[in-house]
Amino acid sequence: MTNPVVENHLTADHLARALRNDVRAGLAGPLKSLPPKWFYDAVGSDLFEKITELPEYYPTRAEREVLRARAAEIAAVTSARTLVELGSGSSDKTRTLLDALRDNGSLHQFVPMDVSESALRAAAETIVGEYPGLAVHAVVGDFTEHLALLPGDSPRLVAFLGGTIGNLLPAERAKFFGSIREVLEPGEWLLLGTDLVKDPGVLVPAYDDAQGVTAEFNLNVLRVVNRELDADFDADAFEHVALWDDVNEWIEMRLRAVRSMHVRLPGAGIEVDFAAGEELRTEISAKFRRERVTAELADAGFGLSHWWTDSADRFAVSLSRA
Ligand code: AVJ
Repeated sequence: MTNPVVENHLTADHLARALRNDVRAGLAGPLKSLPPKWFYDAVGSDLFEKITELPEYYPTRAEREVLRARAAEIAAVTSARTLVELGSGSSDKTRTLLDALRDNGSLHQFVPMDVSESALRAAAETIVGEYPGLAVHAVVGDFTEHLALLPGDSPRLVAFLGGTIGNLLPAERAKFFGSIREVLEPGEWLLLGTDLVKDPGVLVPAYDDAQGVTAEFNLNVLRVVNRELDADFDADAFEHVALWDDVNEWIEMRLRAVRSMHVRLPGAGIEVDFAAGEELRTEISAKFRRERVTAELADAGFGLSHWWTDSADRFAVSLSRA
């Protein structure tokens, strides 16, 4: 039997079409925005890795602390046979969970899902080498669209970590939780990482670090659009903005035009104007309270079973049952 299996749900030009659509929808109107998923080309993924090591960016370390402390309990409670990892990013978290499920004796299959085929294939091959007997079935796809196709024997544990859920708007989150609930059978599990509401004096620097790595990460989306759509954004004419929206309880990243500009995007068939000082929203990163997580999961048909935070109460990992 082939191991790993790598199944691709993204057609050759799926990503190009999706970017074109997002750019047309996001830049056409008066309030400009781009979805954060376009940060993550090879350069952007490297910059994000650097962000996770910055002194100001606590979420990765806080979540790691919780997972290390609770992995054995997660394994014991779920006895999962399949670990599904959505947006399968950091190998470190994956291994913590795989080790605990293997030691628990229940682990049989690992199903990582990501949009990047190269990253996924490399990760899948490494895991196959490190976990003898583990069946790895990687799925190349967009977790907001291809969830219905997730393989794996029951009981499955679907892990969606890192706080990436915060990148979705409330309506998108409701739809996302609903579609996960739909693919799961009653009794299967969702492990969710959520960053928590806290002092803006801690939150804002996490998205506006002293070394400027987050600024580079933010500006990288313009380089992606330039390359993929033949656009002519002058990235030097935009500055990084991070602000805390205390009504919506989310961090917003924006790019502010320092002068007026006319930008051509032939690959998207549009041209757009920026006024001096005009801002383009590139990301929301919602922060949560326990009540909101519980309520949103309940609306989708999940029952919260465990809620764990790091020792400084900055980040929560919750375990819910379908
Ligand atoms: C990878 C989506 C969890 O929202 O904190 C880091 C991305 N943006 N710095 C986050 C990010 C700016 C990150 N997630």
